[in-house]
Amino acid sequence: RNHRRDFDCRSDIDKMNAPFLTLYESLVPAEEEKVKQKKLLTSLEKLVNKEWPQAQLYLYGSCANSFGVSKSDIDVCLSIEDLNISKADLLLKLADMLKLDNLKNVQALTHARVPIVKLMDPESRISCDICINNVLAVVNTKLLRDYAEIDNRLRQLAFIVKHWAKSRGVNETYRGTLSSYAYVLMCIHFLQQRKPAILPCLQGMEATYAITIEDIKCVYFDKVEKLRGFGARNRESISQLVWAFFDYWAFRHDYANSVISVRTGSILSKRAKDWTRRIGNDRHLICIEDPFEISHDLGRVVDKYTIKVLREEFERAANVLQYDRNPCVTLFDPYVP
Ligand code: CTP
Ligand code: MG
Repeated sequence: RNHRRDFDCRSDIDKMNAPFLTLYESLVPAEEEKVKQKKLLTSLEKLVNKEWPQAQLYLYGSCANSFGVSKSDIDVCLSIEDLNISKADLLLKLADMLKLDNLKNVQALTHARVPIVKLMDPESRISCDICINNVLAVVNTKLLRDYAEIDNRLRQLAFIVKHWAKSRGVNETYRGTLSSYAYVLMCIHFLQQRKPAILPCLQGMEATYAITIEDIKCVYFDKVEKLRGFGARNRESISQLVWAFFDYWAFRHDYANSVISVRTGSILSKRAKDWTRRIGNDRHLICIEDPFEISHDLGRVVDKYTIKVLREEFERAANVLQYDRNPCVTLFDPYVP
């Protein structure tokens, strides 16, 4: 681990700038796709309001946090108060309504960790998951979107990291690797701790947005249009940042003691969070604090086998970027077991 050399050959790394930006551009969804998504949301809301006039639908996840690649599924949250029926019954009823409305592949997954109804809109061919009253997800979606407004390099870095994670098979929570949400938080943390910082810590600033959800106070500075140019003193290019991101997670992060915390814009100790040992299924082998549900470690899905897989993938990526002759291709080589 110690024999890596610092990347002192700037010109080599800057050669990767154009290919990374081209890749980023190719992943960004077209505006017409966003229009189709909004249209589907509106027609779903109309349908839902026939039965529950007060209910509202919100987009969350990658279709709304600005980190979504083109042709991804959309995540929708149905917000409804004073439920007289159970969540499961509500989902089943919703599924029946959707089927009658000619939506395809309608399926209620009432026993999932997050119960949802799945559907596909035959007109736009967009697939959609609807969950109920998951307002925290809607709010953390806004937080991510607000961070993305501050400096373009966050979106560029996160798209490249997500693309890498999908290619290398390390974006599968059901198999013990990390969610896209976790990877975006890792990118935000990384840009917060860069010197000079590229991103501020919005939750550490004056409160301009506040909402309480299930006793959790979600408070932060959301006038991000005022923060454009925040990171301008840092002139690092996207290729330097991609390399430094993998170098950070391969060789610099202290897995034994550290928790990354976007909420505080810093590193916390595992001891301070009492995340030093396995409790139930939470092993805390890589610790990523959720910005609002601060008892949630997004690394809890990682086990003693997959932590090795992840760290080897970070090291591979760092080494590819440093030594490979064609790094922008090799980095994304599909992982074949
Ligand atoms: N989410 C959450 N807590 C988690 C995982 C996810 O609150 N442990 C919420 C977040 O609001 C996140 C959304 O669920 O934005 C969707 O999560 P995920 O599928 O990981 O991210 P996407 O951004 O939708 O990524 P992808 O493009 O891979 O679908
Ligand atoms: Mg998603």
